[in-house]
Amino acid sequence: MPKDFVCLADWPAQELWAMLDRARELKQLDRAGQRPQTLQGCALAMFFEKPSLRTHVTFEAGMTQLGGNAILLRPEQVGIGTRESAADVARNLSRWVDGLVARTFSHTVVEELAEAATIPVINGLTDLLHPCQVMADFQTVAERVPLKDAAIAYVGDGFNMAHSLMLGAATLGLELRVATPTSHRPSPRIRKRAEALAAASGARLGWSEDPREAVAGCDIVYTDVWTSMGQEEESARRRQLFAPYQVNAALLAGAPDAWVMHCLPAHRGEEITDEVLDGERSIVLDQAENRLHAQKAILERLLGPER
Ligand code: CP
Ligand code: NVA
Repeated sequence: MPKDFVCLADWPAQELWAMLDRARELKQLDRAGQRPQTLQGCALAMFFEKPSLRTHVTFEAGMTQLGGNAILLRPEQVGIGTRESAADVARNLSRWVDGLVARTFSHTVVEELAEAATIPVINGLTDLLHPCQVMADFQTVAERVPLKDAAIAYVGDGFNMAHSLMLGAATLGLELRVATPTSHRPSPRIRKRAEALAAASGARLGWSEDPREAVAGCDIVYTDVWTSMGQEEESARRRQLFAPYQVNAALLAGAPDAWVMHCLPAHRGEEITDEVLDGERSIVLDQAENRLHAQKAILERLLGPER
């Protein structure tokens, strides 16, 4: 089993399925007022170079609920690359705490932290990937449609969310149709890796520039912001470019049975309309809730005694 949770494709499918089962169980236990103290006395450091609501709160609350605690590190405090190297930060943290969650711009920084750390490192989002989000997303899909049968359409920017959905779907053998403008297709390297995994897992991956084609008859319509954290200067151009990819009532007319998903935060009126985000088919708050349960399962698997 890998030490770290940096990229879904590093993990064997059966391990990911087991984590999803445990996430479902932890949610049921929580509903019944039970919180197993499986990480009693454990400490998790959390390093965020970018803003966060969901990832920060769910990791911190998750650690508390499992009997441990979390320590928030701010980039100006730690100074990776200015005060000391990622490797030196990782080596020090490894002597004090049981795990590290890191959200960075560059994916390489998370890889460097993982390489040098002797403790598990969990990717809390990079410009390349957001694997914890996808575990919560798959848990959320499975609450509505058997995951293996679900046709998932991703519409919008071929960026970190698209990449992690691709690798997650490819590893687990799911159906994912990705619709992006030609100028913002997913990384060819990630696509190649996903296609190689799909050949072994039986995943059905589809690529398109046409959002209507991608969502036709699907079970899930998934979107993400057009301007991700760090891209704010491109915002006006992106609003123009991605306009045909908005998830709105007209697009959903072609997917009458679909649930709507978004990792949040949403830029209301850009990639998704208020009407859809707040509508009856939106399951975005279930996704946000499941960050907690899915990450508790990840934390148990990586930091727990049976790792
Ligand atoms: N979806 C997500 O990762 O949210 P935050 O950026 O608020 O953590
Ligand atoms: N693509 C978005 C995801 C936020 C959870 C970003 O990177 O800002």
